[in-house]
Amino acid sequence: MRAIPNLWHLLNLASSPFFQDRLTPVGDPAHPIELFVGRGAEAELLLRTIGSSDGSRQAIPGAVGRGKTTLAQYVKSELGQARYLAANDPVSVGSADTAAELLVRILSAAYQTVLTHGDSTTGGLEPMKVARQLLRAFQTQGGSISLGLSGIGSIGAGISRAFVTSPAALSALAPELLREIGLVAQDHIGAKGLIIHLNNLENLSEANADRAARVMRDLRDTALLVPGIHYLLVGADEAVRSVVQSQPQLRSVFRVLPPLAPLSNSDLLELLQRRYEHLRLAPERPVHPPATEEAVLDVYSLFRGDLRGTFGALEQAAVRLIGVAGELPTDPMDRDPVRSVLHGVYADEIDSALGQVDVEFLQRLAQTFAGQAFTQAEVEAQTQVPLTTISDAFGRLVPQGFILVLGKRAATGPGRRPVEYSLSGAVHLAFAERAHP
Ligand SMILES: Nc1ncnc2c1ncn2[C@@H]1O[C@H](COP(=O)(O)OP(=O)(O)OP(=O)(O)O)[C@@H](O)[C@H]1O
Ligand SMILES: [Mg+2]
Repeated sequence: MRAIPNLWHLLNLASSPFFQDRLTPVGDPAHPIELFVGRGAEAELLLRTIGSSDGSRQAIPGAVGRGKTTLAQYVKSELGQARYLAANDPVSVGSADTAAELLVRILSAAYQTVLTHGDSTTGGLEPMKVARQLLRAFQTQGGSISLGLSGIGSIGAGISRAFVTSPAALSALAPELLREIGLVAQDHIGAKGLIIHLNNLENLSEANADRAARVMRDLRDTALLVPGIHYLLVGADEAVRSVVQSQPQLRSVFRVLPPLAPLSNSDLLELLQRRYEHLRLAPERPVHPPATEEAVLDVYSLFRGDLRGTFGALEQAAVRLIGVAGELPTDPMDRDPVRSVLHGVYADEIDSALGQVDVEFLQRLAQTFAGQAFTQAEVEAQTQVPLTTISDAFGRLVPQGFILVLGKRAATGPGRRPVEYSLSGAVHLAFAERAHP
């Protein structure tokens, strides 16, 4: 039989330490929350707000891959140890959502969370029965809700005889039902509160910012203000800004954290140390680190705080370099070989993903702005390309992740604040040699 080499085993690692999955509070031994590092101040603020009220709404904005989701996962883990109930997996704010669909997902998360933390009698309680019937009736199918008209019961205390026949009726019933599920958590299970983690707001707002705003506004009246329930809303800066902060009705009920800063270099190195330890194969032997600290930090600086992108790049480099690039097969990857291998990887990726015109446009941006932020007007001024052409190109390159939206530039006077962009780490790597000969 042919033996397929496992490069991680060579380094005494069970598997890749550059995995890009979020960490999970319980039940995911491959990605345990114990690998979490840093973010003490942010976590403290989030926890304190939850601990100090009977229901809260907090938004965690941040650039792509910074660790937003994992921060929320960590906060849930801490809360879990203090008798708050939270589901391991977040509720994904998917792209095709209507307010009713999202509401059903929230109800479902609340129901499941309470059910799994309860005992054998929990599922038989009246609000739980009603929720179960309701969830069975509203089955999400391909982005739309199909409604079953039969078999819907009535809710115990609050809304007896309320029958659900439409999304509108669902909206009317939801606040009371959620409140009663929250009460089951408190009175029956002895929990201090229920946490709902809504993830990836950007998926909702990218398609259509107005619709996203409307969906969240509807949610305010049906779910967000229910006592006993604490919401963590995670999303890209722009999404949080355009959906939450730009609407007075939502701004007044949400506490929005400052955009998540990049994890510090020393926290990143600590993060990797923890992963190496966690994945150590033979306990009596040390792990051979796959990359030098210099190589790790160099890639990280190109990805400007994007941990997911950084790990993805290091993994690509490792597959190509480990075992072959150093004096010894177990030598760590150095900065220069990593750069040159990634240069090839991302140049190929860009060539196959984009047409020639876009490739040349990106290359020009890389040469002109290197690591700096830029606005579309600055691109026009520097390249003499017409603004409509630039805006078309951005319309293609932003969704594909080659150009990143940084947010609005700080105000320098009256008038509109232009949006700032930067190139992705992949683009930096693809054109780095050409940009800095
Ligand atoms: N504080 C941290 N400690 C340890 N690992 C972290 C931390 N923050 C992020 N990570 C790791 O970095 C990677 C990216 O994190 P995460 O998925 O949470 O980022 P994100 O901002 O939600 O990304 P996206 O924008 O793609 O949704 C994951 O592999 C995660 O495990
Ligand atoms: Mg995320």
